Amino acid sequence: MLSVLVTGANRGLGLEFTRQYLEAGWRVIACCRHPHDAPALRELAERYENLAIHAVDVRHFTAIEQLATALAGQPLDVLINNAGIYGDEAGNGFGAVDYDLWQDVFRTNAMAPVKMAECFLPHLECGRRKLIVGITSLMGSMGDNTSGGKIYYRSSKAALNAAFKSLSLDLKPRGIGVLILNPGWVLTDMGGPSAPTTAEQSVGGMRKIIEEYTPALSGRLLNFDGRALPW
Ligand SMILES: NC(=O)c1ccc[n+]([C@@H]2O[C@H](COP(=O)([O-])OP(=O)(O)OC[C@H]3O[C@@H](n4cnc5c(N)ncnc54)[C@H](OP(=O)(O)O)[C@@H]3O)[C@@H](O)[C@H]2O)c1
Repeated sequence: MLSVLVTGANRGLGLEFTRQYLEAGWRVIACCRHPHDAPALRELAERYENLAIHAVDVRHFTAIEQLATALAGQPLDVLINNAGIYGDEAGNGFGAVDYDLWQDVFRTNAMAPVKMAECFLPHLECGRRKLIVGITSLMGSMGDNTSGGKIYYRSSKAALNAAFKSLSLDLKPRGIGVLILNPGWVLTDMGGPSAPTTAEQSVGGMRKIIEEYTPALSGRLLNFDGRALPW
């Protein structure tokens, strides 16, 4: 049975990844901050025995290390770094920057995915698919930035892209692929009610890319529909 680990699995895109992979018959390791306050995940756990739920706040690197140790020896096919925060609210932009919050956004969106990759590399090396996925955003693209602002989120996703581009090259000799995927603008708590894409469509597209992965895609910045995007 193929296996996937998803961070931020209790709502939004992470929950949809969990749903779709369970439906496809995969073993899903769903990580979230508060499993006892994750009703949708717990409902899925009643229906699927191949769902394991673990408490992980991705900012807490000791918790990531502990989970990797607890799952030592278990192969992992795909690691999906989905957990993310926005941070840029009205009133905390340039001129009133909240540097502690910016650091928190950076740790969550850019540093934690690298820590996850470091800790779960042995599990991925035992898996068949050997794929690390970073869920980025078009807002991390320099080429697409024509409106400015949102410096916490933009910089954190640009940093994720740069780090994962390096990982794609560094891990190539070990047979590990790295996908950097933009989910589009999606109807979730983060995306809001005006977004044109449903979580089902976005995750369906990203799963197709994961399913059809070839090494030529490693280290490229791809939209959920497979289009290449500007860095
Ligand atoms: N929706 C969009 O339009 C859009 C566009 C581009 C990129 N993205 C990216 O897609 C990913 C998923 O976004 P979404 O739209 O599903 O957002 P969402 O609905 O706000 O969900 C975010 C998820 O991340 C989790 N999370 C946040 N901080 C965490 C932490 N420190 N440790 C563990 N989990 C944490 C949240 O858990 P809690 O419930 O505990 O807060 C939640 O499960 C993010 O990386 C986001 O940047 C989204």
